[in-house]
Amino acid sequence: MASPVRVIVVGAGSRGEIYSNYASIHPKRMKVVAVADPRKFACTKLQKQHNIEDKNIFKDWQSIAEREKFADAVLICTPDRLHKDPAVAFAKMGYHILLEKPMATTAEDCVAIVEACTQNGVMLSVGHVLRYDPLIHKIKELIDAGVVGEVIHIQHLEPVGFYHFAHSFVRGNWRNEAESSFSLLAKSCHDIDLIHHWAGARRAAESQIYRDVFSNQVVNMEFEGGLTAAFSMVAFTEEICKRKTTIYGSMGELSCNGHEITVFDFLTQRSTKHTASSDASTHFGLSGHGGADYHLINAFISAVANNNPSMIRSGPEETLASHLLVFEAERSRLESRVVNCGDDAQS
Ligand SMILES: NC(=O)c1ccc[n+]([C@@H]2O[C@H](COP(=O)([O-])OP(=O)(O)OC[C@H]3O[C@@H](n4cnc5c(N)ncnc54)[C@H](O)[C@@H]3O)[C@@H](O)[C@H]2O)c1
Repeated sequence: MASPVRVIVVGAGSRGEIYSNYASIHPKRMKVVAVADPRKFACTKLQKQHNIEDKNIFKDWQSIAEREKFADAVLICTPDRLHKDPAVAFAKMGYHILLEKPMATTAEDCVAIVEACTQNGVMLSVGHVLRYDPLIHKIKELIDAGVVGEVIHIQHLEPVGFYHFAHSFVRGNWRNEAESSFSLLAKSCHDIDLIHHWAGARRAAESQIYRDVFSNQVVNMEFEGGLTAAFSMVAFTEEICKRKTTIYGSMGELSCNGHEITVFDFLTQRSTKHTASSDASTHFGLSGHGGADYHLINAFISAVANNNPSMIRSGPEETLASHLLVFEAERSRLESRVVNCGDDAQS
């Protein structure tokens, strides 16, 4: 049997710990060989759990980059503003990369990351966990199977949940844009990515955002071919992150309430229900995002083990395109106008 994929955890906070737990579930598939974090207790915790050698405990990612390459992949789980430099440095060293979302906090940095990965032939998986949520993946499968015909309009709601918003975005890690990133990027790049994905990765033509109070945002988008999409993010909700989606097509309507999918067929006037089960391990805290945390790291490790980037659903090109759409939507908010994607900012 092949030896386990050797990974380095860069940033041993919440996300770094969650992904590294995969090694405890599947020791034959992944081994955590090093960890970097300025917080000693965070390193010690992972060191004990994964039996990491003392010489492979680092205070920051730069100290790892100074060493010769000694693993197959890095899991970059540092704060938002600390993504680009390690991603570019590790790509140049030939490490495959699992990079937490958002890729970076500027469009230029996102482009630089993708260029570095492409030029150095390394795989990149971005932490767009929802791409790996079985129910959300089912929506894409149904669209691709043509159950609603041509997609005409997408309506998508992210109910953040009142206390989740308060703890993460009012007084948590993302309370201050200057220290982290703007809220559409921090919270909703997942959702814009899904809309872009369901739209068939078409080029976005136009974007318009309403309200600058970030506890309640609406983004309207138009894609090539006339497909439109409306996204709402609301903080004041009972449910936490159980997205609601309706996709209107030329032959039917698909709706997902976060628990199941209903497809109404215009011709037969019948509704069909669809669910999706997850075989994700619920051990070691990997059940997050409906099992998607497990599926994302599982796909990344399988891709590296088999040298097969097609196993990654959140790869470089589509993820870059959806991130650029988020930056265009934010430009629309800042400039208070409809933005034609790709045109120059107003001076
Ligand atoms: N995919 C998702 O759904 C999802 C969910 C939550 C967070 N995130 C993203 O994951 C990333 C990490 O978030 P988190 O919740 O784990 O935050 P966290 O604060 O728990 O962890 C970040 C860790 O990075 C460490 N760090 C800081 N500087 C470092 C350096 N120079 N070298 C190495 N480590 C360093 C910190 O000490 C901390 O332990 C963020 O970008 C966040 O936006 C993604």
